[in-house]
Amino acid sequence: MSLIIFVVLLILCLSLVRKWVNKKFSYWTDRGFMQGDRAFPLGSLGGVGTKMIIAEKYDYYYNKFKGKTPAVGLYHFLSPVLLVIDTELMKNILVRDFTSFHGRGLFINKEDNPIGVNTFTLSGQEWRDRRVKLTPIFTSGKMKMMFELLDVLGDKLVRILEDQLQYTHELEMRSWLQRFTIDTIGNVAFGIEPNALEHENSELAFYGKKMSNITFLGIVRFMIGSEWPSLAKKLKIGFTPKDVNDYFLKIFVETLERREKSQIKRNDFVSLLLGLKDDYTNEELAAEAFIIFFGGFETSSSLMTFLLYELALNPDIQDRLREEIMTGIEENDGILTYDILFGFKYLDMIVNEGLRKYPPIPTTMRKTNKEYPIPNTKLVIPEGVIIPVNSFSFQRDPEYFSDPEKFDPERFNEENIKKIKPFTNIPFGEGPRICLGMRFGLMQSKIGITKMIKSFVIQPSEKTQIPIKLNLGNPLLAPEKGMWLKFTKI
Ligand code: HEM
Repeated sequence: MSLIIFVVLLILCLSLVRKWVNKKFSYWTDRGFMQGDRAFPLGSLGGVGTKMIIAEKYDYYYNKFKGKTPAVGLYHFLSPVLLVIDTELMKNILVRDFTSFHGRGLFINKEDNPIGVNTFTLSGQEWRDRRVKLTPIFTSGKMKMMFELLDVLGDKLVRILEDQLQYTHELEMRSWLQRFTIDTIGNVAFGIEPNALEHENSELAFYGKKMSNITFLGIVRFMIGSEWPSLAKKLKIGFTPKDVNDYFLKIFVETLERREKSQIKRNDFVSLLLGLKDDYTNEELAAEAFIIFFGGFETSSSLMTFLLYELALNPDIQDRLREEIMTGIEENDGILTYDILFGFKYLDMIVNEGLRKYPPIPTTMRKTNKEYPIPNTKLVIPEGVIIPVNSFSFQRDPEYFSDPEKFDPERFNEENIKKIKPFTNIPFGEGPRICLGMRFGLMQSKIGITKMIKSFVIQPSEKTQIPIKLNLGNPLLAPEKGMWLKFTKI
């Protein structure tokens, strides 16, 4: 083939590819929607992972299009997604017209990745059935039963931090808090003692962290799963990597066998899941234990990490919280109980403000399972489109929260909380798919904060990154360089 023919063919190919890409990138304008920036190959996600996290990129589009359209069309690589901007539309998607949006659009592969098929990832009737069966294991009565286990681990956290103070007063608290929640959730979801507080490199921590670190391979797996599900099945790709699947399956089945043999009864999720044995296979129960672990360890440790940061920067808030905690416990003969913990009003305001400013899961997703005409517009959302709902944007919008960068627990006092516009503060999501483990997440985060504030004065240290920057390699909210803080024993 002569060089000229080769060059002509190459130009022809390139122009066909260009036409194809342009066609893909006109998906939203063809349907009358406004759309954000787009460029091959990242679509609208330029800068994500190198300059900002995806929630910040959504926030950029949110601010650019707010007031102009109820939702803006974007592209995840070449796939169209629709970012919600208007709170009324958000209410329709999450609650009122939920039947058109019951899935999250996550890829699942029952054969090769059973651990990835759970309440978080399922959609439709399968999701509904699971959710109905699981809801009773998260009631406040069941949480109270688990309180004691967490209380003991909270004391252990304090003891271990005290030991550390013999060597240094500067502690990297993100990793200590991850180790704390690995111990709590490993204990209640898998019935094992991970001993992560004692041993930095516990197995459970290794596999847990593997799920929350974005890697190039992880992105490729996610892309193949959402773009070409049948190819993903052939490649045996699922929601989690294979070793994560095998590990969690193995430890859960081992625990079940131990429990059945020894007839041990404990107040934990394993026992409650065992109660569903007639309805589900071991693999299905393991998948639920896995999502309890995954949903519970990074989220609560992220929340506590950012709370400690704000408490260190705001000593007046910290002092008032300590006063509330000390008095409350003292008046109850020195004993912390579930009711005392949930009766701490100022702690509750602080936790709410932490969740507002730093939502551990900053974006939640829905997927249209049928066409949806947006009320009072001519716009129709097509079937099969992923809809990111970026709580991060609403919760930091000055229209809804004045001076949003300010950490101000008073936003959540008895009077002000009533004034918050519905659907603008949704750190646990909303509607029928709202976080199932909210009470547990709040309980363990409140226990951790209570125990630490009761025992230590927490201050910024020379190594504290102020203002804090976000870790670009984590889909959840995490600080870039850990959380270094100065601890002094009271
Ligand atoms: C501070 C802690 C936590 C935060 C901020 C949080 C946040 C969230 C968010 C934003 C969602 C998505 C909701 C939606 O799409 O509307 C979610 C779902 C979920 N969370 Fe949590 N979570 C936390 C703790 C936990 C814990 C401790 C567990 C388990 C014990 C858990 C289990 C789940 C499950 C199973 C779902 C899926 C619910 C469904 O799709 O029906 N979460 N969580």
